[in-house]
Amino acid sequence: MKKGERIFFWLSGAITVLAVVSVAGRYSSDGPPRQARDYYEWSDAAGKGYVQYKQNGCNSCHRVLRMGEAGVAPVLDGEGTRRSEQWLSAYMQDPESMVPGSAHSSDRMGPDFRQFDTQQRQYFVKFLVSLKSNPGSSNYPVPPFKPQPKS
Ligand code: HEC
Repeated sequence: MKKGERIFFWLSGAITVLAVVSVAGRYSSDGPPRQARDYYEWSDAAGKGYVQYKQNGCNSCHRVLRMGEAGVAPVLDGEGTRRSEQWLSAYMQDPESMVPGSAHSSDRMGPDFRQFDTQQRQYFVKFLVSLKSNPGSSNYPVPPFKPQPKS
């Protein structure tokens, strides 16, 4: 074998062994099944909120459920663990009151939520609270995103 071939041979061997060990490890563990890091608690209203979310181009700044842009605005996976329903309702009604200088205030970059009626805002809130995360997720609340008290 040439030197290059030998390196290739050992490298692919090592990758195969690692893959087998990692898959076998997952099946042989006796512990509880690993929790999903991000998950959602779906409901009818949350589904309606998701449809509105897609129709209104929220994906062009936010990322959620493995779709949309990252790096422009906060990733909304886990939003329902970081924020309470009350917080989200208040934010949808008047972003400025919850986040001073918010991008969603009327004269800034994000869509102005006042274009939506009360029912539509409610669907958005139901969708956003349905997005949960578990410890171990990068979307789980860590300082400075302390979980809001759920009253
Ligand atoms: C033009 C970019 C843009 C678009 C489009 C956009 N957002 Fe945002 N959004 C932002 C930015 C930036 C923030 C950061 C926080 C702030 O400024 O209030 C934000 C924050 C948020 C937050 C608060 C996150 C938190 O916990 O602090 C929610 C909820 C939200 N957006 C929902 C939506 C929804 C629903 C839509 C679609 C109707 C939408 N956004 C479309 C830019 C955008």
